[in-house]
Amino acid sequence: MNWQELETQCKQCMACDLGATRKNLVFGVGNPEAEVLFIGEGPGEQEDLRGEPFVGRSGQLLDKYLAAIDLDRHKNIYIANMVKCRPPGNRDPKPEEQDVCLRWLTRQVKLMRPKIIVCLGRISAQRIIGKDFKVTREHGKFHEHNGILRMGTYHPAMLLRNPNLKPEALEDFLALRDKIKEVCERTY
Ligand code: SF4
Ligand code: URA
Repeated sequence: MNWQELETQCKQCMACDLGATRKNLVFGVGNPEAEVLFIGEGPGEQEDLRGEPFVGRSGQLLDKYLAAIDLDRHKNIYIANMVKCRPPGNRDPKPEEQDVCLRWLTRQVKLMRPKIIVCLGRISAQRIIGKDFKVTREHGKFHEHNGILRMGTYHPAMLLRNPNLKPEALEDFLALRDKIKEVCERTY
């Protein structure tokens, strides 16, 4: 199966309750041939309306951090979420919804074969990197697993609530830039 076929199949998914209330499924945005994959939590209201991840206020902030290290959501990275449909009222996705939906993300990762995965926020980092992941302690650190380097950083929504964390977030992105230069061939 290729990327387009996977996306078409995913967009018809009704495998959990979130399918019934979504306006648009948010499969992801960017270049599926990129070497760097960002993973958020799940769509919010704006994302549900537009069918694209990180297009609200957090997304605008994310785009600034990406631009600071010459990454562009439409060119040299891919951005996806753990859960593809918006949980009503912006509640956290339930563990069982995450379990079911992660099958799509797993297929995305298998097709993409990224060199680096960046988890945006605790929920994503705890699912993808490890259940005991502590963002405050481990943000910006790379963990290798099955030939993929994985790193967790603050969720941009967290940075909007706690602007004092922004310098640390910028350091994580600068560390990411260095790591990309070290292990990626086509990103810059
Ligand atoms: Fe399917 Fe995921 Fe949407 Fe649930 S959230 S309906 S599993 S795509
Ligand atoms: N927060 C997320 O985790 N993902 C989005 O797509 C938007 C906000």
